[in-house]
Amino acid sequence: MLQDQITQYTAEVNAFDTHNADELEQFRIKFLGTKGIIKDIFDQFKAVSPEEKRVLGKVLNEFKQLTEAKYQALNETVESEQGLAGHVQLDLTLPGEGFEVGARHPLALVRREIIEIFNKLGFSVAEGPEIEDDWHNFSALNFPEEHPARDMQDTFFIKKGGEKGDIALRTHTSSVQVRMMEAGQPPFRALMPGRVYRNEAISARAHCFFHQVEGLYVDEKVSFADLKQTLFYFVQELYGEGTKVRFRPSYFPFTEPSAEMDISCTICKGEGCQMCKYSGWVEILGCGMVDPNVLENCGIDSKKYSGFAFGMGIERIANLKFEIKDLRLFSENDVRFLKQYKSALI
Ligand code: DAH
Repeated sequence: MLQDQITQYTAEVNAFDTHNADELEQFRIKFLGTKGIIKDIFDQFKAVSPEEKRVLGKVLNEFKQLTEAKYQALNETVESEQGLAGHVQLDLTLPGEGFEVGARHPLALVRREIIEIFNKLGFSVAEGPEIEDDWHNFSALNFPEEHPARDMQDTFFIKKGGEKGDIALRTHTSSVQVRMMEAGQPPFRALMPGRVYRNEAISARAHCFFHQVEGLYVDEKVSFADLKQTLFYFVQELYGEGTKVRFRPSYFPFTEPSAEMDISCTICKGEGCQMCKYSGWVEILGCGMVDPNVLENCGIDSKKYSGFAFGMGIERIANLKFEIKDLRLFSENDVRFLKQYKSALI
């Protein structure tokens, strides 16, 4: 009898349980499939007498609903446990995914450190344009017209109307000294960081652009002793106490006297290594007393005021600090390189 069959199948459906997708699919095919038991029973139902239909119809519908509800409930469990195609299972107890934090560029780190040290001595920060005229880059700084001193720096001239004009990409940040002094009267005590350009073939040791920090201190009675003490303090702060300095006489058109400053090699502590070419010393900057001609060119009374200036390459300082041997790394922006400075001096 159909009634008995339904009772038996109801027991079977009630007893069924699984956490397995394959088994559940078998269950679905068996009971709910197009050739399944429910379809079969409904087919048989068509043949029963009208009196029986009234009773059986209800039982049959209940059985169908029971089976569908069972299938749905089990299906939800299986899906949430295993994750079906397209549904990623969520495990809320897993630790979160970390964010990739950006890193500061090593040159930015070094520039900031330099600025911070000089801030403590009362130096402010100033900037000037990267496209400069001959006056600010050369003439005001005492580079005579047509003098070979201009060849010290391979300049990128900007042509005006096809003619080589007197506009150029600045070759050094010393041009900002001129702009600063022209715009006011002493005292000046400022640091001038910026990008500079030179017409050089790109290699591990030279680049067509790099970065400098210029320093200028002009007031009454500023002496070479002030220059030495300021730079000595800077080196102790930047490279640690005990770092030695030495000044070698040099030449720059805009300073008199001029010097280059070396520090005891930070890598080998003066023992001799590749970095210092086994001399124990490395050069880090040029400096000197501002030439009176430069002060006068900028409208400053050279009888009343004196000053010192210095200029250093930021790449050079970073090179010594992080032992970065190839200058090209600074501008290639290779994430594998930049990432390494994540934890440094944030
Ligand atoms: N401007 C020089 C250069 O680019 C560096 C320099 C030397 C700057 C001596 C100065 C200085 O202010 O006094 O090579």
